[in-house]
Amino acid sequence: MKYPELKDAELRGRKVFLRADLNVPLEDGVIADDTRIKAIIPTVEYLLANGASIIIASHLGRPGGTIHHELSLAPVADRLTELLGKKVSFAPDCIGARVNTLAASLQPGDILLLENLRFHPEEKKNDIDFARKLASNSDIYVNDAFGTIHRSHASLTGVPEVLKGGYIGLLVEKELKVFLEMLSSPARPFSLLIGGAKVSDKIPVIENLLPRLDHLMIGGAMAFTFMKEKGLNVGTSLLEHDRLGAARKLFDDAEEFGVDIHLPVDIVTAPSTGRPDLAQTVPADAIPYDMAGLDIGSETIEEFGKIIRKSCTVVWNGPMGVFEIPPFDCGTRGIAMTLAEVTGNGTVTVVGGGDSVRAVVEAGLSEKITFVSTGGGASLKLLQGVELPALTVLGGNQ
Ligand code: 3PG
Repeated sequence: MKYPELKDAELRGRKVFLRADLNVPLEDGVIADDTRIKAIIPTVEYLLANGASIIIASHLGRPGGTIHHELSLAPVADRLTELLGKKVSFAPDCIGARVNTLAASLQPGDILLLENLRFHPEEKKNDIDFARKLASNSDIYVNDAFGTIHRSHASLTGVPEVLKGGYIGLLVEKELKVFLEMLSSPARPFSLLIGGAKVSDKIPVIENLLPRLDHLMIGGAMAFTFMKEKGLNVGTSLLEHDRLGAARKLFDDAEEFGVDIHLPVDIVTAPSTGRPDLAQTVPADAIPYDMAGLDIGSETIEEFGKIIRKSCTVVWNGPMGVFEIPPFDCGTRGIAMTLAEVTGNGTVTVVGGGDSVRAVVEAGLSEKITFVSTGGGASLKLLQGVELPALTVLGGNQ
């Protein structure tokens, strides 16, 4: 599917409603990671260079439809100002008389950032009156909120309906290109490395990718459901009993499609995440009954590394262990380093999903990966191949 792109838009002298995903982590009011802010700079600069003024709208966190001062987008306006080297004004709300006045005074080249959309319950309810108010100061809609394209909220589907369509921004264009090209014609062997806590979140992704894959590596807590289905004792590790049947089916489907499934061969265990001092690595078939698996072991990093090194395309989604708590971060870090290494040798590596992206960023390796997606849930939905309402509303051609 091809969606209307910025190069098709008549921008000169127009006011653009730019829906961005500026949902960045804040620590004590300070932006802890500005990747998502940097990611929209090319679109902002393109719009300005083509004579538009811009009203930027975003959510931040999940304030539940009420004002939470700690989730204000004000620090983001300051960071955008620094990055652009140009003043970004900040509106104290996203609708209302004050916003209308600020928007009315915008001249080509001016930028106004609105306050957190989710301070209003109508945003998530996709309320059409709220969408009309949001749209009332703009001529054109641009969606560059890749991380949120799987949501059907007022600023994502309502505003483009009111403004009778819109365009994808340069970030969304780039993300879609990478994912769709990879899904339609990946360089083979094509490997998926999947982790994270919940099997249920990832099964639709695996099912959609299975017919195209050569190798599937499973780590993280979700691996224990697959190991249990293989007859292994997993101690007190996280287990989704109601997904054992789904795990069985995936083993059968993988066989039918000729996909090799690789499970951990060793596991870092401890009584709980609160006792890292008692961490012990054991073979995958020897997890003590009173221990929980909290990371993949060093032999597994080595084994997964061998598969990664013989792949031409690798997609990674989900951490290999409880990576927030050392020493259970070694598996995730080891995988991030292996991916950085193979990228240098020409393998196409794509990392999506909030936690695995965080691991890559924290390890300072994001520049060494072919593509690090700005979308967590959104990239999962793309990999699942499901319809994305915020794109559908823009219309498009096959
Ligand atoms: C994200 O961080 O995944 C996006 O900003 C979407 O946020 P949400 O899951 O709160 O809708």
